Amino acid sequence: VLKTVLCDLLGIEHPILSAGMARVSQAGLVAAVSEAGGCGVLGGVSYSPEALSDQIAAIRLQTKRPFGVDLVLTPDLLDDSEKAWEPIETLWRNLSPATQAKLEGVSQMFKRGGVRGQLNAVLDAKPALIALAFSAPAWVVQECHARGIVVAALVGSVNGAADAEKAGVDFIVAQGTEGGGHTGHVGTFVLVPAIVDAVSIPVVAAGGVVDGRGLAAALAFGAVGVWVGTRFVASNEAFGHQVYKDRIVRADLTETVITKSYTGKSMRTLRNQWTDQWPPSKETKFPGQYAIAGELVETGYQDGDLETGMMPAGQGAALVHEVLPAAEIVRRMAADADHIIQSRARATDRQPAR
Ligand SMILES: Cc1cc2nc3c(=O)[nH]c(=O)nc-3n(C[C@H](O)[C@H](O)[C@H](O)COP(=O)(O)O)c2cc1C
Repeated sequence: VLKTVLCDLLGIEHPILSAGMARVSQAGLVAAVSEAGGCGVLGGVSYSPEALSDQIAAIRLQTKRPFGVDLVLTPDLLDDSEKAWEPIETLWRNLSPATQAKLEGVSQMFKRGGVRGQLNAVLDAKPALIALAFSAPAWVVQECHARGIVVAALVGSVNGAADAEKAGVDFIVAQGTEGGGHTGHVGTFVLVPAIVDAVSIPVVAAGGVVDGRGLAAALAFGAVGVWVGTRFVASNEAFGHQVYKDRIVRADLTETVITKSYTGKSMRTLRNQWTDQWPPSKETKFPGQYAIAGELVETGYQDGDLETGMMPAGQGAALVHEVLPAAEIVRRMAADADHIIQSRARATDRQPAR
């Protein structure tokens, strides 16, 4: 059985984390991954503080094992000033009641003060892990450590990793451009070893990891585990329409695209009419673009609308061939990586000495 320092750090059996995917990673998926010996991570970004506490309670009803929560705590979202939020609140107010109802699950993104409330709710709940995307403020890391919470930072660049290390995080999640959701421009194959070389804290690989081969490769690059999104979208427990999961199962390598048209930040999602037609000149900033895309940020998840709905997915979708229970994904990934590493070691043993 593969064990790494990540297993010791989080108290888990396999060095496999399911990504904290907004909307998709809800209590059922998180608990299933943690029960299977990985570490499930709740996609916390879109919940109100109260709903976050409820989700965490729901996870704890289903598992006693360690789990994490993913949050986005960028300076602009933490800035509670009228000036920062007025335009965003106005965008929300101008949406029709029907659209507002459809967007109920992400309405939190339009509310001033909500992000600070999320952080307080998670700090109070003391999960094993808090994962921070985009920005890892040192004061948040200190608050987490004071409560015994491990902190990870998701980054897509060496500079981002160095900043997060300075802020005191316990490990880095290095996400390559292959990954689904918000993503950068450097591929996992180069980004992970570059970050392993640049920092002295553990690194976890993300972006394009869907099976045991990906886990074994991540370990070969010096990573201590993997953070996996797209593979778990196509799990029974993920929140999302069956059509979305089936499209991931069918996808080939040409079917994802990076677009700012849904959220205002570069996001890898399944390509469709909306991503093909939206002109970059009309894009506005995160999270305002959410309101402009309106119902479309939900019609993929809720209605399986393939033509215009947002359906984040990574290039690894081309390697996903069936929807599986999350526990089976964890089991196969761990067992296959173990087998690959053992068999390669034996193959190397047999090489004649030079
Ligand atoms: C549907 C979906 C939603 C995502 N939402 C978030 C999010 O809310 N916060 C975050 O930090 N990352 C998010 N991501 C990115 C993942 O955390 C992860 O880095 C990425 O999925 C890894 O690449 P992979 O999809 O190839 O496994 C999301 C990814 C997907 C596919």
